[in-house]
Amino acid sequence: AYVIAQPCADVKDKSCVDECPVDCIYEGGRALYIHPEECVDCGACEPVCPVEAIYFEDDVPAGWGDHRGSNAAFFDTI
Ligand code: SF4
Ligand code: F3S
Repeated sequence: AYVIAQPCADVKDKSCVDECPVDCIYEGGRALYIHPEECVDCGACEPVCPVEAIYFEDDVPAGWGDHRGSNAAFFDTI
């Protein structure tokens, strides 16, 4: 699945929401989160984020923390 990482925090541009064909991007308190089981890995959301917050789960920059875990935890799937 794709994940939303730290640049989204307090930005919440939401361009990604309009691109997602399966509506699996949900709003949280300070950021948005991608449901790891609903995401179909289409990649459509990644290029539209103005702050480059979206990455395939294996490609989140090192040192940014466990965003794969935080996205999954938001939906209580882990
Ligand atoms: Fe939605 Fe596709 Fe982005 Fe997954 S990769 S969150 S399915 S737009
Ligand atoms: Fe956040 Fe970027 Fe989407 S700022 S809401 S991940 S377009």
